[in-house]
Amino acid sequence: MKNQATNQTKFHAVAKPLALTMLFSAMFALSACSNDEAPQSTAETEKPAAQNAMDVKQPEPKPAPQPTLQQQTEDTAAKAAETISTAKEEVKQEVEKQVAEAAPAGATVYATCVGCHGAKGEGGMGPNLSSQTPADIVAKLKKYKAGEQMGPMTGVMAPMAAGLSEEDMQAVAEYVVTLK
Ligand code: HEC
Repeated sequence: MKNQATNQTKFHAVAKPLALTMLFSAMFALSACSNDEAPQSTAETEKPAAQNAMDVKQPEPKPAPQPTLQQQTEDTAAKAAETISTAKEEVKQEVEKQVAEAAPAGATVYATCVGCHGAKGEGGMGPNLSSQTPADIVAKLKKYKAGEQMGPMTGVMAPMAAGLSEEDMQAVAEYVVTLK
């Protein structure tokens, strides 16, 4: 009797932590996967050990770890998602900023001039622009905008210059000389 009791105590001392450890590991693994059918089969596999160890107290730790681990996983996922979306937004803003700065404003302006001054500023209905200096181009544009009579076709060009700001003139002048 005495030996049996000692053996039983030993068994309890070893089996209980062992069973708990196995249960926790199983739950941890399951919390990462789909928990539709898996928890049942594992619970059944673990049951004999759990029953042998301590039938009554065994189920108690169950609810505690699962929400904690799930919560942690969800928190981590939420944080990761937040970090990613923040990073995305920052990259987007940075790219937009760089595009706005670098993308030649002159190219945008020149889109309205290309029909008369040529794809390479070589001239067409209007004179060649790409062989001139940006300073000359800006100076002439200012004169058109100011309403000065320039060449015989000033009436065609003046309305085009009238809509340009000084920044537009500078940008388009610097852009058009790069086309040749
Ligand atoms: C509808 C056709 C047309 C468009 C569009 C047009 N131009 Fe002109 N441009 C002309 C003509 C024609 C002249 C010559 C006008 C004259 O006889 O004074 C001219 C003259 C100029 C001159 C003076 C060139 C020189 O050497 O005398 C500049 C600079 C110029 N254009 C720039 C531009 C810019 C920049 C744009 C776009 C914002 C533009 N033009 C759009 C027809 C056009």
